[in-house]
Amino acid sequence: MRTETGQRGGSAIRRAARLSVAPMMDWTDRHCRYLHRQLSREALLYTEMVTSAALVRGGAVHLLDHSPEEHPVALQLGGSDPGELAEAAAIGEAAGYGEINLNVGCPSDRVQAGCFGAVLMERPAVVADCVTAMRGAVKAEVTVKCRIGVDDQDPEAVLPDFLARLRDAGCGRFTIHARKAWLQGLSPKENRDIPPLDYPLVLRMKDRFPDLHLSVNGGVTSLAQARAFLEAGLDGVMIGRAAYHDPGTVLGGVDPEIFGTGRVVEAEAAARAMLPYIAAHLEAGGKLHQVTRHMLGLFTGRPGARSWRRILSERASRPGAGVALVEEALEAVTAAPVG
Ligand SMILES: Cc1cc2nc3c(=O)[nH]c(=O)nc-3n(C[C@H](O)[C@H](O)[C@H](O)COP(=O)(O)O)c2cc1C
Repeated sequence: MRTETGQRGGSAIRRAARLSVAPMMDWTDRHCRYLHRQLSREALLYTEMVTSAALVRGGAVHLLDHSPEEHPVALQLGGSDPGELAEAAAIGEAAGYGEINLNVGCPSDRVQAGCFGAVLMERPAVVADCVTAMRGAVKAEVTVKCRIGVDDQDPEAVLPDFLARLRDAGCGRFTIHARKAWLQGLSPKENRDIPPLDYPLVLRMKDRFPDLHLSVNGGVTSLAQARAFLEAGLDGVMIGRAAYHDPGTVLGGVDPEIFGTGRVVEAEAAARAMLPYIAAHLEAGGKLHQVTRHMLGLFTGRPGARSWRRILSERASRPGAGVALVEEALEAVTAAPVG
């Protein structure tokens, strides 16, 4: 039965989904997201995947800790038990997340053994039950991140069926990683590069489901490429690795180029904006490298980038390393001859 796919959770987060930074395990933690937020006020940020079991059975609510400055930020959940996901979604909403996203794209063995992630592309009815249960538990918008299929599935048949079933369960917004996951024989890393990208299929899904908010993901490395997808009719673009490895270039221009707001944020300004955050993190007992490991790519391709990276990667883990080290690394960048 068809149910409404209204704009729950507010239109602000939907607007932000025009450009999002992908959920990435071990990478998009709260420190990474805080850095990305210094580069774009507008982009939608995602947490790393948190399993429903960790929240509901493991009591690992600390995994939801985040700074208010990170908003708009979405929580990504992994799981396949509707009741447990509903409970986890409610815990996530209570922790302040404006969107709860379900992972139907991760191909790792660990995830397959738990029967969630990409393997769920083969079980759309289970995913629909999960979405229904999650929507029943929260006011926040429930969204899905998926692949175009797995293994020998035919994406031309599987993807529209998947989207239609989930639309009928009330999901109105999807991010589609535009390649299959091959569940046998490829590592998760290989599964992000080897199965070919099929962008035209994602574009055809927008023609077929004009009422759904569809974002494309996979292999996007520039804002020009992102703009081209938006101009072609898609509602959003999600960028993962390029945003992580080269945040200064990829995210610094997001607000003016994608949202028509603000100005380009230079990498140096973003780095300086991190200093009070780093000081507070150290004051609270945290370690410098926990934050600076996400900042190593900030000056990629610019004069002094190598010194920046070297100073931080070699010395940020040393006892006593603090804000002064980041300032020293910044001086090395700003002193580097241009050209
Ligand atoms: C280190 C790493 C961890 C990832 N972890 C997740 C995850 O937790 N949940 C998820 O849905 N996708 C995860 N992904 C996949 C990304 O969200 C994204 O779909 C993929 O990298 C393709 O986008 P890109 O080509 O822009 O990087 C991860 C990717 C990387 C590189």
